[in-house]
Amino acid sequence: MADNDNLSIEEILAAARKQDGGGGDSTPAPEAAHPETPKPAAKTAAPAKPGKMSVADMLAAARSGDSGGGASESEGATPVADKPATPAMKPGEMSVAEMLAAARGDKSSGAEKAKAAPPKKKAAAKAAPAAKEPVAAKSTGPKDTASILAAARSGTAKPGPISKAEAAARAKETGATPAKKKAVAPPMPTKPEYAKSAPVRAGASERRGFLVAATAIFAGTFFMTSSLAIGFSSLAVTMLLWVLGTARFMFPNILTEPPTKFKVGFPDDYGPGQVATKFKAQFGVWVARDEYNGQAQIYALQSVCTHLGCTPNWLEGEQKFKCPCHGSGFYKDGINFEGPAPRPLERFAIRVADDGQLEVDKSRKFKEEVGQWKDPASFVSV
Ligand code: FES
Repeated sequence: MADNDNLSIEEILAAARKQDGGGGDSTPAPEAAHPETPKPAAKTAAPAKPGKMSVADMLAAARSGDSGGGASESEGATPVADKPATPAMKPGEMSVAEMLAAARGDKSSGAEKAKAAPPKKKAAAKAAPAAKEPVAAKSTGPKDTASILAAARSGTAKPGPISKAEAAARAKETGATPAKKKAVAPPMPTKPEYAKSAPVRAGASERRGFLVAATAIFAGTFFMTSSLAIGFSSLAVTMLLWVLGTARFMFPNILTEPPTKFKVGFPDDYGPGQVATKFKAQFGVWVARDEYNGQAQIYALQSVCTHLGCTPNWLEGEQKFKCPCHGSGFYKDGINFEGPAPRPLERFAIRVADDGQLEVDKSRKFKEEVGQWKDPASFVSV
């Protein structure tokens, strides 16, 4: 309470009573209460010069001061309520009682203002919608604080967005139908020339259909015909193979063997101690000329090892037959002398044919271990 702007109504009234009762006391209450602060008196015209101010002026100043304090907080909500009271008061006609009543009214209205627009943010937020409504209704709606507060409390002046149901209810009350926005699709882009299909000639579709049907019939017929042809061909081939197999079964297997008798040349063709190997590959025979038991003979030896049946080789340098399988060795006359071979080589029958040539007969064999080499059919004496 350092200056007159912040003086409460009670202080101002007390000062007014003093002035009214004292017949123009030249010392106003604010100054008496705050003699050291004459500075704010210059801001408000009425309390600035106490000696010249009437009660009405002081009340007006008090109201402005009271409302000024609240106006800064809720200027938009309350100024309308204070203004009409000012011209209704005529200073020369008002008594102290009226002034008090007016002051009380202002006080009460001030209390209401304090309720409507408290300094706290929460209450200001609550009062904000109510404050907007009186501004909008400045020209037509109620202009006093009570009516503004009543309108705010009733909720009819609800600010901000509203729900669909509320909009529908309001539209029902006012009879206005909300305008519906019709969705308009954007226009389609124009087709370029290359994308446009060629015009179909009359009768082309019928011809195309006929061609498709003909192709399908031809393909079906070809498929069926080819399937039948493949099936019958397979059956015919199978029957032919079966007939050929049966015919082959009717003839016996024939084993073609070389002849058992064959000629190996003249006896003079073989020198003493000579072994002919040229008949080994074809007939499996060595024809040799050598002495056996002190007798010169020409004989035919079978080229089969007596161990396990391998084919030995004639080694001219070593003058022996050598088996490559297990190392059996045989002399020129066929007697075994090394290796696992258990007995001498076998001889075939040999003779001098009518033409003077030596003839070998493989159908007859002679074994040395049983004394068959003494048989004159097993050699040709030279
Ligand atoms: Fe000739 Fe065994 S088969 S040595």
